[in-house]
Amino acid sequence: MTNNHDRVVTRGLRGVAAAETKISFVDPLGALYYLGYNIDALVERVCYEEVVYLLLYGKLPSKNQLDALKLQLVAEMNLPEAVINSIKSFPLNSHPMEVLRTEISHLSMYDPDPDSTSEKVKIRRAIRLVAKVPTLVATLHRLRTKQQLVAPKEEAGLAENFLYLFRGQPADTEEKEAIDRFMTLHADHGFNASTFAARVAASTSSDMYSAVTCAVGTLKGPLHGGASEKVMYMLDDINTEEEVEDYIQGMLDDQKKIMGFGHRVYRTEDPRTKHLKEIAGNLCHRTKTMNLYNLCIRIERVVHEKKKIFPNVDFYAAVTLNALGVPFQFFTPFFASSRISGWTAHVIEQYKDAVLLRPSSSYVGKYGRPFIPIKKR
Ligand SMILES: CC(C)(COP(=O)(O)OP(=O)(O)OC[C@H]1O[C@@H](n2cnc3c(N)ncnc32)[C@H](O)[C@@H]1OP(=O)(O)O)[C@@H](O)C(=O)NCCC(=O)NCCS
Repeated sequence: MTNNHDRVVTRGLRGVAAAETKISFVDPLGALYYLGYNIDALVERVCYEEVVYLLLYGKLPSKNQLDALKLQLVAEMNLPEAVINSIKSFPLNSHPMEVLRTEISHLSMYDPDPDSTSEKVKIRRAIRLVAKVPTLVATLHRLRTKQQLVAPKEEAGLAENFLYLFRGQPADTEEKEAIDRFMTLHADHGFNASTFAARVAASTSSDMYSAVTCAVGTLKGPLHGGASEKVMYMLDDINTEEEVEDYIQGMLDDQKKIMGFGHRVYRTEDPRTKHLKEIAGNLCHRTKTMNLYNLCIRIERVVHEKKKIFPNVDFYAAVTLNALGVPFQFFTPFFASSRISGWTAHVIEQYKDAVLLRPSSSYVGKYGRPFIPIKKR
């Protein structure tokens, strides 16, 4: 018998490189690169569709390529009737992430070329998901709130259309910029847990929908994308800035994690935070919810004083979405609607790598236990 209990275990796979990637680099010193471009250089200069193109094709698009992608995305922002009917049938108290997880899986049954694995079809399938996931989220919200579904505008971008489909009214310039930047900042982030889950599924040569379904289930957890919704519950719990110190100390004394803080990779500030903080500040100013923004600033200061940790992407993302009128339960689905571009890019890259992701474990259980028949147990 092989004895493997002394195998080295890297708990939580901390610092383990599971594969090579050209898609994005999360620099522990506080930078994020998409295909070699620092996100600080991309945000505000590119639209979300340019980022989608960059992630899927590995280069920034020309004007013609971008226009063609935009048209393709708008044309794909529809859902099969069966998917809409299925959304209508779910219990009203089901979480939007549960519905999203189920309906992405359902979409696979309506893929026009289900058996094709050509490069062209993989990209087409990715674009289909990048367009349809926001529509799934918006459709669920409209149906739940008994509002009419609206059709995307051909002249609008994906991010703007997402907000339009969700809220039913066109976004103004500031809101358009905010949602576009939000989606750009959430598009990819190295081998985060949900991307890794997608790549594990893809490494078995399973289909893209299965891989993305795994990713959605993984993103849902509060230690990952589920944190943004929990940030809002925390902000709801704290009534005034004066209460922040005691509230945070109470959480730490109870060994509870402060949602929206800390990161596995960054040892300094998350490079997305400054952008989201600025977006959140502008939106809160407009919507007269500066009290929430100021509460966040105070929490950030107190948590840093006490634990020396920084806000991550979910902290100011929560206030941003709140100011855009998105209900708390839809925060993580908005994250998923942006990260879908990164997930699909990673799935395609994993197919190219063509190796099964299958770690081993260190067995610490027993050996040779005497079998006792059921009647004698
Ligand atoms: C993201 C997260 C899971 C990373 O976990 P991790 O890699 O194990 O964290 P680290 O090893 O860097 O933690 C270092 C220390 O800070 C503490 N810490 C990390 N995040 C914390 C948080 N949000 N609240 C309180 N303490 C935290 C850890 O408990 C640890 O403390 P210790 O040294 O006294 O044991 C963790 O920070 C967390 O749970 N954050 C809250 C959920 C969240 O916002 N998730 C979204 C991530 S983008």
